[in-house]
Amino acid sequence: SEEKAQYKEEIKQLLKEKNAVLVAHYYTDPEIQALAEETGGCVADSLEMARFGNQHPADTLIVAGVKFMGETAKILTPEKTVLMPELEATCSLDLGCPIEEFSAFCDQHPDHTVVVYANTSAAVKARADWVVTSSIALEIVDMLESEGKPIIWGPDRHLGSYIEKQTGAEMLMWQGACIVHDEFKAKALRDLKVQYPDAAVLVHPESPANVVEIADAVGSTSQLIKASQEMDNETFIVATDKGIFYKMEQASPHKKFIEAPTGGNGATCRSCALCPWMAMNGLASIKAALESPVGREIHVDPVLAEKALIPLHRMLNFAA
Ligand code: 13P
Ligand code: SF4
Repeated sequence: SEEKAQYKEEIKQLLKEKNAVLVAHYYTDPEIQALAEETGGCVADSLEMARFGNQHPADTLIVAGVKFMGETAKILTPEKTVLMPELEATCSLDLGCPIEEFSAFCDQHPDHTVVVYANTSAAVKARADWVVTSSIALEIVDMLESEGKPIIWGPDRHLGSYIEKQTGAEMLMWQGACIVHDEFKAKALRDLKVQYPDAAVLVHPESPANVVEIADAVGSTSQLIKASQEMDNETFIVATDKGIFYKMEQASPHKKFIEAPTGGNGATCRSCALCPWMAMNGLASIKAALESPVGREIHVDPVLAEKALIPLHRMLNFAA
């Protein structure tokens, strides 16, 4: 629409004026993803977002995603201004892992190496030995396991149990879940596969174990997009936030992408696989963040940030 085109032009101008760059996640609205690409920013998974922000010379990062992504950017580059379209955009994994309880859990097992998912608060990262994202969680736990280290894993129990199966590690696990991925249903997915026998099933590892079991490819958002390009199938059933369809369809316009079912009884809930916090990001709020950063700037307690930087650097150096 005309209004959107106007917003886009204004944002482009503001990005230049403020020497700012837009760092967006694959779950954000397609128009945000497209704008990030058009303006020299990035659209990426959470590890690549962290890396991009860390390396980019801009003074200001606009992180279109959820709070933990903005906090990670701020911890990695405290000298930069980190803005978010909506500071209330959080994550059920972050909410379900309060620092006091998580820290007490860790204190009970002082001999354990603490590995936390990036989808956590700065305080939880500061309590951890390692931070991982879904794209390198397996490799890092595999390495720790081969060194014989006992591991505490938090907060996503589905990603945790997937890692246990793949690596043979037995981890003490926090019982968190992603409210979006937790809704995918194995029985309905099997039924859908009967309808599309040639389809490949792509699953984000935050999904329940019985859904991950059915997958032909499991991985981070970037890894799922790559799989959709590289696999020869013409049809894909995709179990992750539907924001990802924009990139998959753009990369392979001749292929067919179908949403994995989230409802029971084989019914597909058309609006379920959509993260409510990712959906808070919009063109209007991006423009507002650039115009008046008050109330849209990420601040991290410097003491926590200094501690959280250690496991974050371990992750970035491991993946490098
Ligand atoms: P990725 O690291 O795969 O982008 O995942 C982030 C996330 O929040 C998934 O729900
Ligand atoms: Fe968190 Fe799930 Fe939303 Fe990802 S999709 S940000 S894990 S609530």
